[in-house]
Amino acid sequence: MRPAIRAAVADDLPALAALDEVCFGPAAWSTVAWSDEFERLSEDRVILVADEGAVVGYVVLLVPPVVADVVEVLRIAVIPAERRTGIGGQLMTAALGRCAGRTVLLEVAAGNESARGMYAGFGFEEISRRRGYYGDGEDAVIMRWRIDE
Ligand SMILES: CC(C)(COP(=O)(O)OP(=O)(O)OC[C@H]1O[C@@H](n2cnc3c(N)ncnc32)[C@H](O)[C@@H]1OP(=O)(O)O)[C@@H](O)C(=O)NCCC(=O)NCCS
Repeated sequence: MRPAIRAAVADDLPALAALDEVCFGPAAWSTVAWSDEFERLSEDRVILVADEGAVVGYVVLLVPPVVADVVEVLRIAVIPAERRTGIGGQLMTAALGRCAGRTVLLEVAAGNESARGMYAGFGFEEISRRRGYYGDGEDAVIMRWRIDE
């Protein structure tokens, strides 16, 4: 069954924090950080979840109100047991659907083949690198997407 993609609601917070822990381990956002993201929903955050009765994936966007400002993909993840079934793609499609006419940036670890493969498939292009950006010395790759390029 394909999950429904919908906007997150406050009741999703515990499930999102738990799934984030599963997906990112020590790099997971704290409950406080997730609360802060939810508080910013009325300002500049968009949180979409993939819902199949339980939350199985999510994407968090920073969408500044000024259209000329770039959108950032802050987070995207899918529950490990359901990866490679198209859910990440569903989430990206829904997220980019909200970004028409805007530039979208994201940052990804150089060795994160699955995420880089997905972003490249959506037309994101590498525009820069931050050498040794992550704690383990891995480079960060900065990728950009524009629908009109
Ligand atoms: C990145 C992630 C969200 C992709 O989610 P997913 O549901 O597995 O993605 P999909 O099944 O929709 O795949 C979309 C495309 O991404 C690419 N892709 C996904 N997993 C891949 C892998 N392991 N290797 C290479 N390409 C991969 C493919 O192009 C794929 O299309 P295809 O299946 O038609 O070939 C998922 O792997 C994940 O949660 N990773 C851990 C969290 C993370 O690293 N997030 C990104 C950094 S914030």
